[in-house]
Amino acid sequence: MTDPARGTAADWDQRYAQGSPWHAGPNVTVREVVSALPPGRARDVACGDGRHSIWLAGLGWSVDAVDFSAVAVERGRETAERLAADGALPGPIRWAVADVSTDRPEPGSADLVLLSFVHLPPDQARSTLELSASALAPGGRLLLVGHDRTNLTAGVGGPRRHEVLTDPDEVAEVLTGAGLRVERAEIVRRSVAGADRDALDTVVEAVRPVPD
Ligand SMILES: C[S@@+](CC[C@H](N)C(=O)[O-])C[C@H]1O[C@@H](n2cnc3c(N)ncnc32)[C@H](O)[C@@H]1O
Repeated sequence: MTDPARGTAADWDQRYAQGSPWHAGPNVTVREVVSALPPGRARDVACGDGRHSIWLAGLGWSVDAVDFSAVAVERGRETAERLAADGALPGPIRWAVADVSTDRPEPGSADLVLLSFVHLPPDQARSTLELSASALAPGGRLLLVGHDRTNLTAGVGGPRRHEVLTDPDEVAEVLTGAGLRVERAEIVRRSVAGADRDALDTVVEAVRPVPD
């Protein structure tokens, strides 16, 4: 599939059935941001086959991993079980097959909410952000990393559809409306092996304020 934003759960199932489409290990920005945080409860929104969930659990986080591709979730679960059997996964992972644009997380159940390369049509993107924000406990942090819209003209990789690509200001506006305090909303360059230019990632970090 050339357009990762296109597709139903069945389309994604088909794609994951052919093997893992992603690099193993965390995205560079996810690694940088999360490494500075103490382990707690994490929600990995549209987790795919679990590269971040498994990495987080390896650091001791307790993870809720959600994706609507049953094939991806099963693949993640199998990998996690293998690692746990070797004693390499100190944190638990609860895997769930659900649509993240409608699935209601338990309010305040996460200290970290991660959205990594989740590209949805505008209405679904908005509801996914709002529902994701609702999962954050006071003091918790939401991190979004996505293919920025400027990739269409100045970057590389990601979907080629303007309406599903991310924009820092738009994401920040939705998260502010959902009661979060945005600490960072910018475009970050990421080098891509073999590419003649960098990928441009939307990076947004926001926290749920602690009530006085
Ligand atoms: C580009 S992959 C990113 C996976 C993972 N976050 C990562 O960074 O490795 C996008 C994922 O979004 C999932 N997805 C797309 N729409 C979804 C929806 N409405 N609900 C749940 N998952 C969805 C797909 O199944 C796929 O696993």
